[in-house]
Amino acid sequence: MEKQQLKREGFGTSLGVIAATLGSAVGLGNIWKFPYMAGDNGGAAFIFIYLISTFFVGLPIMISEFIIGRRSNRAVVGAFKKLAPGKPWFLTGVSGMISAILIMSFYTTVAGWVFAYAFKAITGGLNVTTKESAVQAFNSLAGSVWTPLIWQWLVIALASVIIIGGVRGGIERITKTLLPILFILLVACDIRALTLSGASAGLEFLFKPDFSKITAMSVLMALGLSFFKLSVGVGTMTTYGSYIGKDESLPGTAVKVMFSDILVSILAGVAIFPAVFSFGFQPESGPPLLFFTIPMVFNSMPLGQVFLAVFFILSSIATIGAMLSLLEVPVSYLHEERNWSRKNATIASALTIAALGCTATLSNSALADFTIFNKNMFDLMDFASSNVLMPAAGIFIALFAGYKLGPKVVYEEATNNGKLANRPLVSAYLYIVRFIAPAAIIIVLLNGLGIIKL
Ligand code: PHE
Repeated sequence: MEKQQLKREGFGTSLGVIAATLGSAVGLGNIWKFPYMAGDNGGAAFIFIYLISTFFVGLPIMISEFIIGRRSNRAVVGAFKKLAPGKPWFLTGVSGMISAILIMSFYTTVAGWVFAYAFKAITGGLNVTTKESAVQAFNSLAGSVWTPLIWQWLVIALASVIIIGGVRGGIERITKTLLPILFILLVACDIRALTLSGASAGLEFLFKPDFSKITAMSVLMALGLSFFKLSVGVGTMTTYGSYIGKDESLPGTAVKVMFSDILVSILAGVAIFPAVFSFGFQPESGPPLLFFTIPMVFNSMPLGQVFLAVFFILSSIATIGAMLSLLEVPVSYLHEERNWSRKNATIASALTIAALGCTATLSNSALADFTIFNKNMFDLMDFASSNVLMPAAGIFIALFAGYKLGPKVVYEEATNNGKLANRPLVSAYLYIVRFIAPAAIIIVLLNGLGIIKL
């Protein structure tokens, strides 16, 4: 039966396309995950592997998702159904949707902490000056039951209200306003961090590789981070690709997003690591790293209170574009493929995320001892999405673009029917998605999970 053709909204301008896609990529991944993962895994050597996987896996998969989305003009599950009717390829879209919900569930925990810190900083309630008081301040927030839950619900509600506003009036408008502010605030924090005494030890950690800490698991984590960072393997970029106009360059957009996103991660690293070293923290403090160090650094310098508020406001801003793109995945599915109104689709998705998300938030308190495979719910959702589901979906997305759609369709979409002079680049891209990316993901995935031993 032919589906009823809904009138589809899309992004209105080229700038809007960049703002929305970059807004999705930039987020807690840059400000929270990238620094603590680099800290846990030996700094520059990890970053180097992360960059390689971003160029050879993350970027080509983003281009593939854009192609699949724009070509089909459908949300993530429908995209595969339309391009490969009657075939099981749509399961890739289903896996993406599951990942989007899992990520959103723990992402909103951390976003809730970030918003709570911004609020505390603005109201002067984050007066920590010693290492112990910084740890204490974090534990009293994350380790209690109701406060972090309420913050989590607030951020879910905020994302929902914007999503109900639609693709152009909600996502595009908000990300276009917020991104420049984020960038300016981040540069201001960098300038401050670089003028701390002891900044050089932090920079050395960030830029001088020590490969002795690299293991099969850290390579898998670097690959997982490159998926998480570029929001690929989740269906976000397929969904956003379906909102991109016919005249935009898909590879061009992907390359711009990738480079800008790397730049933001480096800027965030430069804001954080000098502080870690100059205040005697260990870079391996794990996920709370950001919440320990930043309040201390800013509290012990002139105008510190202002910078502290600035930093957490910018981090709060960064979470928004990413949350919008995650929420848009189930919402667009329910709206387009199940014919729900956008509002009901958003409410149902938000409630599901809130229900699952409280298990992530309570992993630091009531559910601390509840573990599966030795991981609490927070870590489990994080690990299952970034280190299993997203790379696995990545394999199928690459194969789908490389073989199922094949060179003819890929050239049409990636060169805008020959209008763009980027043929050599598209050929290189095709070679990567047909051979290199799938092989690399399979090897890193099996090796990282211990299924094969290299
Ligand atoms: N890229 C986002 C970040 O770095 C997270 C994200 C992952 C968003 C997957 C959408 C999809 O914070």
